[in-house]
Amino acid sequence: MCGIVGYTGGREAAPFLLSGLRALEYRGYDSAGLAVMGEGGLQLAKTSGRIERLAEKTRGGAALPGRSGIGHTRWATHGAPTDVNAHPHVSCGGRFAVVHNGIIENYAALRAELTALGCSFRSETDTEVIAHLLELGYDGDFREALMRTVARLEGSYALGVVCTDFPGEVYAVREASPLILGLGAGENCFASDLAAIAPYTKSAVRLEDGQFARLRPEGVQVYDFAGRPVEPEIFRVDWGPEAAEKGGWEHFMLKEIMEQPRALRSALAPRLRDGLVDFGAELGSALPERLGSVVITACGSAYYAGCVGKLAIERLCRVPVTAELASELRYSDPLIGEDTLVIALSQSGETADTLAAVRECRSRGAKVLAIVNAEGSSLTKLADAVLYTRAGPEIAVASTKGYTTQVAVLTALAAELARRLGRLTEPELRELAAGLYRLPDAVQKAIDLNPGLPELARRYCLGGALYYIGRGTDRAVALEAALKMKEISYRHAEAYAAGELKHGTIALVEEGTSVVALCCRTELLGKMISSIEEVKARGAKVLAVAPAGERRILAAADDVITVPRTGPLLDPVAEIVPLQLLAYYAARELGCDIDKPKNLAKSVTVE
Ligand code: M6R
Repeated sequence: MCGIVGYTGGREAAPFLLSGLRALEYRGYDSAGLAVMGEGGLQLAKTSGRIERLAEKTRGGAALPGRSGIGHTRWATHGAPTDVNAHPHVSCGGRFAVVHNGIIENYAALRAELTALGCSFRSETDTEVIAHLLELGYDGDFREALMRTVARLEGSYALGVVCTDFPGEVYAVREASPLILGLGAGENCFASDLAAIAPYTKSAVRLEDGQFARLRPEGVQVYDFAGRPVEPEIFRVDWGPEAAEKGGWEHFMLKEIMEQPRALRSALAPRLRDGLVDFGAELGSALPERLGSVVITACGSAYYAGCVGKLAIERLCRVPVTAELASELRYSDPLIGEDTLVIALSQSGETADTLAAVRECRSRGAKVLAIVNAEGSSLTKLADAVLYTRAGPEIAVASTKGYTTQVAVLTALAAELARRLGRLTEPELRELAAGLYRLPDAVQKAIDLNPGLPELARRYCLGGALYYIGRGTDRAVALEAALKMKEISYRHAEAYAAGELKHGTIALVEEGTSVVALCCRTELLGKMISSIEEVKARGAKVLAVAPAGERRILAAADDVITVPRTGPLLDPVAEIVPLQLLAYYAARELGCDIDKPKNLAKSVTVE
């Protein structure tokens, strides 16, 4: 979604801002712009389309000389992705320029009010009201104008603001949309995502909701919206320069797929001790005194990870578990109370629907345990306890290591809860932990065993209908596998419970239809073979995913992707990895923009 960068200091601001915006490209956007304060006053450049177009228009930033400024990538919500609607937006008098992430919910009323007062609007955006409010509330004091303005705004917003009367001064504002300040010597910066400023800073501050900061080259002051100074909590930025770079891989997605063994090691190692799963004090106060039920909530791939986790927790703990889409949970009058443990999953920790669902659950008295990758993100602030997945930065829009580390942590959590509830014997617990210890190597093996995936992608995924079928955990993995294919290759793929096909969808199966049959549930193999025969009888070609050496599948399917056996609860992790690669190779063959698929954003910060 939208991205913000701001800078003040000794360097030329425009090249800094362009580099920050490039680092935010992965979030998804459709226009971009800069406002730089130079000797000649405020200079503006905006364009629809890619940042490279903005770089060309500004000659790499050289056309906008000046040492402070703000930049933005916009993902259109109010108004089409045009040059005019691109940010920054400027007040009528040209004194203030503003960039904005989020949505101003009362913008229509404000726009009517400001129009009646004589403001003329150039864009269709909700953001422009902010620029006009700043100008109207200004009496020579930039900070006061800002405070008067935020007092009028409803909704979610992160803002970057400059004023021509205060060159060298840049303001950053946060309300329900992330913003991070980067601190340096003689220069300071901010961005909506650490990726934009990590190469330039080792010390950073996460603004909290209801706070704003004044940045000047010589220092940063943080205030709450009432204007009271706040002592910022500084954290160390420990991203190596390679963390947000491709390191020789053709795409971030491929790099992140290949990083999964390492990511899983770092997710699991701190939770395994002396041959057992042991979360120590990590669950804090998140467990209800009496655990009546568990509700897992999330969106997209994180929700599909939750579908796997539901099966693991129910099986090991014997408590009722539901997996609910966060965007639906809020409106379903859910059965949630003080004995419910809510587990909220999010790679980014900023997904608006997930945050809203968590607020709803909390208002009903539930305890919330968050499973998150991005440290310090908004979800971590709402939860009673946080389990970090420690996958490292995930840049490609399609989640890969984000998903597998979520599944791994959820499965380990299922074992931890089962131990605390006394549901499993020590040998059973040891066997589960042994599987978790072996998981990173199993994932590596799942990659190594399948060098033929580019060819399989060509044969199965480039034309005609594509179905993923499975039962139990295989079905949950099928949902994620189909999503991967859809989002990066734009091929229409559907996931079905294998047993459901014959209740309707099999009508669509015909000569040449591709069916990917997930067959890792040994106890259900006979049933899967029947499903394979049903679709083959109607002309489908079948690519199966099955444990190494599973002869019955070799005989039934046309081709087989082989995965190591890891045990019923951990198979989903090893199983999805070749399917991520299958989607990747199909998208590459089709010439798609793999890391930044059309219409998608990395972190969906609007509901
Ligand atoms: O950051 P989150 O895990 O909360 O994101 C949730 C979904 O938006 C995300 O998983 C999305 O479905 C991905 N594009 C999937 O690859």
